[in-house]
Amino acid sequence: MYLTRDEEKTLAGEEGVSRQKAMELVVALGKIYGAEDLIGITSAHLSGASYKTIGDGGLKYLDDMVNGGAEVSVPSTLNPVGMDRERWKEMHISQAFAEKQLKIIELYKKMGVMSTCSCTPYLGENVPSLGDHVAWAESSALSFVNSYIGARTNREGGPGALAAAILGKTANYGLHIDENRRPTVIVEAETDGSVFSYSMLGQAVGMAIGGGIPYFKGIDPAVDDAKTMSAAMAASGSVAMYHVEGVTPEAGNFSLDGLETIAVGEKELKEAYGKLNTADDIQLIAIGCPHLSQKEMRDIAAFLKGKKKRNKDVEIWFCTSSRVRNECAEEVKIMEEFGPVLADTCMVVAPIEGAFKRTGTNSAKAGNYLPTLCSQEVMCTDIWKLMEVVM
Ligand code: F3S
Repeated sequence: MYLTRDEEKTLAGEEGVSRQKAMELVVALGKIYGAEDLIGITSAHLSGASYKTIGDGGLKYLDDMVNGGAEVSVPSTLNPVGMDRERWKEMHISQAFAEKQLKIIELYKKMGVMSTCSCTPYLGENVPSLGDHVAWAESSALSFVNSYIGARTNREGGPGALAAAILGKTANYGLHIDENRRPTVIVEAETDGSVFSYSMLGQAVGMAIGGGIPYFKGIDPAVDDAKTMSAAMAASGSVAMYHVEGVTPEAGNFSLDGLETIAVGEKELKEAYGKLNTADDIQLIAIGCPHLSQKEMRDIAAFLKGKKKRNKDVEIWFCTSSRVRNECAEEVKIMEEFGPVLADTCMVVAPIEGAFKRTGTNSAKAGNYLPTLCSQEVMCTDIWKLMEVVM
């Protein structure tokens, strides 16, 4: 693998131990995946932010990086953390967890990472452009920016994305290279146009193909549709990029000759739905996976306005970024008659298993992870049906 003289110096430790460690990791990944060289990036998005998922080992790793002088050299955002920084008591979080979580956020801040913690930074805090090379972790977000924006990132892990952020470079392989962005299968898709049906479509396609790069025909996803579909396909499969005819900027760049075509419609969406639903009654309704957009906040507030929450036994959490929560003061007032609008956290990376056993969600991604990462039985259905549970 070719390294410039400056990159060799970084690898030799001439710029300090943190940059050396970062270079070692990026070079190791490059060698594993056959990269010929490194490539400059314009931004990074980091996962590994919740104390629940990284534990004391992760905290120590971050502490060591900070003590070694680590600093990010490109705009870098952070994934959701294990609690709302101000309202963690409402989430049944312990003092001990909160202290460790705040320490993790502080360490990232010391490295120069932006302090909004969201899985939808592409909606405001960190918006790549067509053709930008970036290093993003968070499977839903990286799939969105590859597919809807036409930025270029591999499916980075937390440490790999942090290393790339520190160097401002990543190994040049995989989805950074034109040829590897070629579709691998055509999907003739059908939805009923609702956001939830796009979530089920993502779930069904991930289940059907596992990995690869699907090329969708027959759909026209808006931002919120693509947001949930990206998340679902990355969770039920390992899809890091897809094309949608007429939507993905690069969709017309490749010949489709010889590709297999699969149909995914009502029957497959029902099967996906069946796979995700294991609970008939729930204790928590958790909305906002991926984090709610401004439009979703407006839609939810409009639906809830003038209604009453009658079933007090079921808690509701709305999860979004602190930016969106700040920008939606009117909507937040209406929504909080039903439950807290929590910022910079989510139902999967928070330790909800301490307080709940059965959770309702309108997200296929959460539907996949709540049983495995949070020991939950799940009701996965349309947001409006979930709201009926408490009215
Ligand atoms: Fe985001 Fe948490 Fe879902 S990080 S995509 S809300 S699992």
